[in-house]
Amino acid sequence: MSQNIASAEGRLGILLPGLGAVATTLIAGVYAVNKGLSKPIGSATQMGTIRIGKRTDNHTPLIKDFIPLADIQQVAFGGWDVFEDNVYEAAVHAQVLDKTLLDQLKPELEAIKPMKAVFDKRYVKKLEGSWVKTGATKMDLADQLRQDIRDFKAKNNCDRLAMVWCGSTEIYIEEAAVHQTIESLEEGMRNNDENIPSSMIYAYAAIMEGVPYANGAPNLSADIPALVKLAKDKGVPICGKDFKTGQTLMKTILAPGLKTRSLGIAGWFSTNILGNRDGEVLDDPASFKSKEVSKLSVLESILEPDKNPDLYKDLYHKVRINYYPPHGDNKEGWDNLDIFGWLGYRMQIKVDFLCRDSILAAPLVLDLAIFLDLASRAGMSGIQEWLSFYFKSPQTPVKGMMPMHDIFKQEMKLKNTLRHLQGAELITHLGLDYE
Ligand SMILES: NC(=O)c1ccc[n+]([C@@H]2O[C@H](COP(=O)([O-])OP(=O)(O)OC[C@H]3O[C@@H](n4cnc5c(N)ncnc54)[C@H](O)[C@@H]3O)[C@@H](O)[C@H]2O)c1
Repeated sequence: MSQNIASAEGRLGILLPGLGAVATTLIAGVYAVNKGLSKPIGSATQMGTIRIGKRTDNHTPLIKDFIPLADIQQVAFGGWDVFEDNVYEAAVHAQVLDKTLLDQLKPELEAIKPMKAVFDKRYVKKLEGSWVKTGATKMDLADQLRQDIRDFKAKNNCDRLAMVWCGSTEIYIEEAAVHQTIESLEEGMRNNDENIPSSMIYAYAAIMEGVPYANGAPNLSADIPALVKLAKDKGVPICGKDFKTGQTLMKTILAPGLKTRSLGIAGWFSTNILGNRDGEVLDDPASFKSKEVSKLSVLESILEPDKNPDLYKDLYHKVRINYYPPHGDNKEGWDNLDIFGWLGYRMQIKVDFLCRDSILAAPLVLDLAIFLDLASRAGMSGIQEWLSFYFKSPQTPVKGMMPMHDIFKQEMKLKNTLRHLQGAELITHLGLDYE
C-alpha cells in the first residue's frame, strides 16, 4: 500500500542561509543542468536508481521516476548572507566553477540577491560582514526571518519551501538548559541568551513557518530537544548535521569494508589542507571544535570497539584541518591507516584524496531539499533518520542513541524508506529475493 503523498507539482523554493561556495555551486549547477549545459552528477534524486521487486524482475528505475519528487526545472532559490554580493559575484569569488560557465548563467545568478543575515560575530569569529539585520532581541530577528520567508514564497510564486543551512560553521556550543523546551528557548530568544547562535534562529524561523530544515554544518542549530519537539508539533521534517563529503565520506566507505573482513585497525590519522573561506573559519579553534566532534564520532559507531575489542579497542583516531590558501576550494585529505590482519601482522593504507569540497557538497544540498520536500508531502515530521546518508553527524530520533554511519546501511535505509512510501516490497537481501 503506498502512503498518501501530496502532489509534487508546482514550484519548490530552496532557501539557503549562507550563499558561499557550496550554495553558489549548487545554484549555478542547477541552472547549468536545466539549460542542458551539464549533468547533475553526485545527486541521488537526479541520477540515482532503485531496484524494485525481485532481482529477476530486472526493474531498476531512476529514483525520480519511481517516486514523485519536485522537478528541478521548477525550483526557485533564495538566501541570506552577511555579504551583499549577488550569487554571480559570490560564485566568482568562491572560484569553484569556471568563469566561462558562470558567464553563461550570469542573468539568472545576478538576479539572486542575498537577504540581510541574522549574524553575530561571537559565533563565527573569523567573519566580518555588514549585510546584517538589526533587532532588539533574538525573537525580533526570528520574526524578521519569518517575514523574509513569507515574502520570498509570495514573490517567487512558490508552492512549497525547504531550507538548508549552508552558512559558516559556528563555535562549539554544548546543549544547555535553554535548549530543553520550546518555552525555555522562546524565553531565551526574548532575553538574548548567549547559548542561542544565529543558525538556531534560522532553524526556529523555518520550523515556525512550516518549512523543512536541514543543517549542513556541524553546529547544533536544530539539534536540540526544543526544536525537535517544535518540528514534531508543527509537522515539519528536519535533519542534520554536517554534509558528509571528502575525507569522512571515504572513511565511511573504507571502515565498513575493513570491519566486514574482521581486519583490525590500530590507528587512523587524517589531515586536511584547504584554502577556502570555510577553511579560514575552521582555523579558529572554537569553530574547529564543532567540526572535530562531528568528524571523530564516525569510526566508533561503525567499528563498535566495545563489541570487537581485539580489533578496535586501542584504535588511535586523530583528525586535523589546516588552512592553506593556495589550495582554494580544492581540498587535499590525507589518511594513514595502520591496520592488522591474521595473527596481528601489521599493514598500512594511505589515501590521498584530491577532492573539490563544494563539488561534493552541492548535490547533497539539492537532494536534501528535494527529499525533505518529499517527507513533508508524505506527512513525515521531526528527525528524518533515513537522510543520515548525507551527514557526518546524523541526528538520531532517540536521545543518546549512536547514529548509523556506515554508508551502505544508510543507503539501504534511504532506499527502503522510498520503497515503503510507494508501497513497494522492502529489500532485505534475505531469503529467496531472486524469485
Ligand atoms: N563543502 C563541503 O564539503 C562541506 C562539508 C561539510 C560541511 N560543510 C559546511 O557547509 C557550510 C558552507 O560551506 P562553504 O564552503 O560554502 O563555506 P563558505 O564560507 O564559502 O560559505 C558560507 C557562507 O555563509 C555566510 N554566513 C555565515 N554566517 C551566516 C549567517 N549567520 N547568516 C547568513 N550567512 C552566513 C558566510 O558569509 C559565507 O558566505 C560550512 O559550515 C561548512 O563547514 C561543507
